[in-house]
Amino acid sequence: MLVVYDSLTGLVKKTAMKLSDNIKSVKEVQYIAEPCLLLTRSIGFGNIPDTTRKFIEDNQSFVKAVAVSGNKNWGTNYGAAGDKIQAEYHIPLILKFEAVGLKEDIELLKRWIKENSHE
Ligand SMILES: Cc1cc2nc3c(=O)[nH]c(=O)nc-3n(C[C@H](O)[C@H](O)[C@H](O)COP(=O)(O)O)c2cc1C
Repeated sequence: MLVVYDSLTGLVKKTAMKLSDNIKSVKEVQYIAEPCLLLTRSIGFGNIPDTTRKFIEDNQSFVKAVAVSGNKNWGTNYGAAGDKIQAEYHIPLILKFEAVGLKEDIELLKRWIKENSHE
């Protein structure tokens, strides 16, 4: 499955690279034609980055799930972009993880990709 990522300082890109060889940045694609897992992050106070919002709006039917990187220092805004994506676009939030993610986070995401790649 294609993994599309939105990364500013490189952490989410590193997570994407651990998951698949088939990865693309939201900055390099406009329209995709296959299902994807979206990896993103929060900006400001738990907001959805504009680049993520545009990608979702252009490709909503292909975005099967979202996982969001954050930092628990942000308190109640930890990973809040993921909650907002789920509420506004009805895309399931499968995981919040810190920075690049722990080993068990990567395993969970790999398992989700495997289980959802034969539709
Ligand atoms: C300006 C700024 C705002 C952030 N806001 C949040 C936030 O609201 N909630 C959160 O969990 N993390 C927040 N973070 C942390 C990032 O989401 C986190 O470091 C993420 O791993 C960055 O991914 P990237 O390296 O791929 O850009 C913020 C980081 C920055 C620089």
